[in-house]
Amino acid sequence: PPGVPDVRERTLIAVKPDGVQRRLVGQIIQRFEQRGFKLVGLKMLQVPDDLLSQHYYELRTKPFYPSLLHYMTSGPVVAMVWEGPKVVQTSRTMVGHTNPVEAQAGTIRGDFSFHVSRNVVHASDSPEGAQREIQLWFQRKELVNWDCCDQTISC
Ligand code: PPS
Repeated sequence: PPGVPDVRERTLIAVKPDGVQRRLVGQIIQRFEQRGFKLVGLKMLQVPDDLLSQHYYELRTKPFYPSLLHYMTSGPVVAMVWEGPKVVQTSRTMVGHTNPVEAQAGTIRGDFSFHVSRNVVHASDSPEGAQREIQLWFQRKELVNWDCCDQTISC
């Protein structure tokens, strides 16, 4: 219903090759856990060319497209699906401006990067985009529905 946030909203977050190589995976996961979002999918992969060309289809005519593909295949990526109310919009705020020069301190890009061609992380930009990207990157069986069922811990 209108006005009620979708607690099952999901977004795709990917730690790009520079983030993996700089050992930033743990800190990035920590930020999303700390914020209270739920991790429902996680894998490391060398991203196949055909997946990237679908993922970045809208950018195919941009001058930076070849270098973007080269960068994204220069090493493994850690792909994640995070769930929670307004997770798409909140994640974009947490990740910061696409161009790290514009990214505020305290955001992932604002804290860890200084150039758009090595901006550490990808985050879906809309709920519709997120659905498309999650379907592209994850098989249905790779996504896990879980709830806090252990009464001896608080969550
Ligand atoms: S645009 O031109 O407005 O459509 O692009 P933008 O939305 O700012 O960025 C889209 C993705 O392209 C990446 N990008 C770049 N990569 C490498 N080099 C350069 N110069 C460059 N400019 C933009 C940018 O990081 C976005 O990737 P994702 O994975 O979505 O963060």
